[in-house]
Amino acid sequence: MNREEREDILRAWRESAPYWEKHRDVIRAMFAPVTRAMIEDAGVIAGQDILDVAGGAGEPALTIAEEIGPSGSVTFTDAVQEMVESATREAERRRLTNISFRHCPAESLPFDSDRFDRAVCRFGIMFFPDPVAGAREMLRVIKPGGRMTFAVWRGPQFNPFFRIVADIMSRYVEPVEEDPDAPGAFRFAEPGAVANVLKQAGANVEKDRVSDFFIEPPVMLEEFWSLRVELSDTLREKAAKLSADQLLRVERDVRASAREFFPDGRMRFPAQVAITTASKPVLSGDDT
Ligand SMILES: C[S@@+](CC[C@H](N)C(=O)[O-])C[C@H]1O[C@@H](n2cnc3c(N)ncnc32)[C@H](O)[C@@H]1O
Repeated sequence: MNREEREDILRAWRESAPYWEKHRDVIRAMFAPVTRAMIEDAGVIAGQDILDVAGGAGEPALTIAEEIGPSGSVTFTDAVQEMVESATREAERRRLTNISFRHCPAESLPFDSDRFDRAVCRFGIMFFPDPVAGAREMLRVIKPGGRMTFAVWRGPQFNPFFRIVADIMSRYVEPVEEDPDAPGAFRFAEPGAVANVLKQAGANVEKDRVSDFFIEPPVMLEEFWSLRVELSDTLREKAAKLSADQLLRVERDVRASAREFFPDGRMRFPAQVAITTASKPVLSGDDT
């Protein structure tokens, strides 16, 4: 991937940052079950030193900072300055004192080796230009025997939250043929995909599981379309190509297709992610 392509990915996230900040509480609620599963699999406990890579508007870093208490610490990182600033604002608002922030890409972490007890990365690794390099860097900065845990989306067929709008949009804007290995939400949708990356990075894969959950934030059917479009740069780009009349029709179609996932008017989408945990090998005396 060339420099321009890398810049394009970050530009898209920079443009998304204000919307991720606007919807931060909804995002937190939507993916809380994923955060919970990651905390469990990583074995995050009070007093540890935790690294969050590609933390976006603040998760799972902010939740973990609240859980591990004052004797532990969280270091939040993201490659987009606007995301870092947004997460910092929220930590200040919540008066969290055990969290610090760094603007850096996963592939080049400004930390000493063997520093953190655990590293987490929720919905981030699929956007790294070089996922193996990112995973290798995370492995470098965790302690020997320490763990790192990743969450990625399984395919759209298991995730109607994404599929519904994408399908309807494709009737209006010609979908372009996408490289399945290019950065994107479903890059690691195949079983074992992240485990392969972590093995190539030199980690010992400890656990690789599929996790089913419900996306059920307090969001009503009428709010679904604007939430989806605002959070996705791809959808924002496509929506910008439509006429006012087409936009109204898309919104109407989305509402009709999504209705079944709003029992009593409130969002409840079944969803599926893969959660993969690996540890850093402990070298024996003979290996050093
Ligand atoms: C889908 S968001 C996930 C944010 C957050 N972890 C969450 O689950 O809500 C992806 C994040 O990855 C960040 N990102 C993209 N490429 C990155 C890279 N190479 N290194 C670090 N962060 C990156 C983006 O800026 C964005 O904040």
